[in-house]
Amino acid sequence: MADPTPQPDDRFTFGLWTVGWQARDPFGDATRAPLDPVEAVHRLAELGAYGVTFHDDDLVPFGSDDDTRAKKVTAFRAALDATGLVVPMATTNLFTHPVFKDGAFTANDRSVRRFALRKVMRNLDLAAELGAHTYVFWGGREGSESDAGTDVRAALDRYKEAIDILCGYVREQGYDLRFALEPKPNEPRGDIFLPTVGHALAFIERLEHPDMVGVNPEVGHEQMAGLNMVHAVAQALWAGKLFHIDLNGQHGPKYDQDLVFGHGDLKSAFFLVDLLEHGGYDGPRHFDYKPLRTEDADGVWASAAANMRTYLLLRERARAFRADPEVREAIAAARLDQLAVPTLASGETYADLGGDDFDPAAAAERGLGYERLDQLAVEHILGAR
Ligand code: GCO
Ligand code: MN
Ligand code: MN
Repeated sequence: MADPTPQPDDRFTFGLWTVGWQARDPFGDATRAPLDPVEAVHRLAELGAYGVTFHDDDLVPFGSDDDTRAKKVTAFRAALDATGLVVPMATTNLFTHPVFKDGAFTANDRSVRRFALRKVMRNLDLAAELGAHTYVFWGGREGSESDAGTDVRAALDRYKEAIDILCGYVREQGYDLRFALEPKPNEPRGDIFLPTVGHALAFIERLEHPDMVGVNPEVGHEQMAGLNMVHAVAQALWAGKLFHIDLNGQHGPKYDQDLVFGHGDLKSAFFLVDLLEHGGYDGPRHFDYKPLRTEDADGVWASAAANMRTYLLLRERARAFRADPEVREAIAAARLDQLAVPTLASGETYADLGGDDFDPAAAAERGLGYERLDQLAVEHILGAR
């Protein structure tokens, strides 16, 4: 196996908030010192990353004056220029400041909603200036704990209104930016609006500019809901809506773990890489994870490298799986190739469905051989083949 050293061509990207996470949690204080975005850019470039992403407040702390803002942006730009790292995506922090305790676009307080829109527009300007092509919306605070305190239909009206306004803004400014909605079922809110990829896809079709809006599925978020991330991503691809992706790890339905990619459900990670590599996705492979709270700075950089190395190892394993003659034979035996054949032949209608000599009993008896195929996948993951 070739040494899996990440290269910019692999298009690996990281949020500033990932390697920069100080590991503050609801029960304990930070275990790590703040990380300067300039240092993050240099370290990520050394590790072979392609790009970096940010929330407005990761780069310019909330409430900074214009002078501070200009200095921070200039220093960040200089680091990008020095390393060649790009900014393919940016996003807005609409969740940390207490003003967003009841949401941003869907807050009951109208003045909060107006403030949120101004905050996004300001960062859209910066995102466009730094060359981003995707803008993510993760509505972590858009939701509720009490069904008495919200009106979900009105909240969805306001959510749609916000995205429509922002699409209009991007079009008018002439920015080359598309939006990607990031679903999550819960945390920090008890129930978050647009909890899964499926909900987001249905919402997008109701927008004024559905072409401008896709999804940013996150491994852990689908798995928190007990759903299959590979299926979610496949449906997003099928709908032409996989605009971006957040890769990480999760152990089933519990709090959002944001583990290193592959450090949760490894088998699902293998099939996800297989899908991304063979399913026509050419966007960044974005890691949205949190280095464990137990780690010091060395552990942080080890975890950043681990995300990329695991992805590359799984990519190699997926290629080997696809190329294995026994796998091909097992896929054919499972009749997977038949699934791609339309049920009606061209020119046929439902009226042509009858009349063949189909034998239900014989069809019911035939095994599909999925057990053998699945074991072949496991053996490829384990490096046994
Ligand atoms: C989470 C989310 C966030 C978002 C990020 C971008 O961990 O619940 O994934 O990390 O992706 O805020 O908006
Ligand atoms: Mn997450
Ligand atoms: Mn995410």
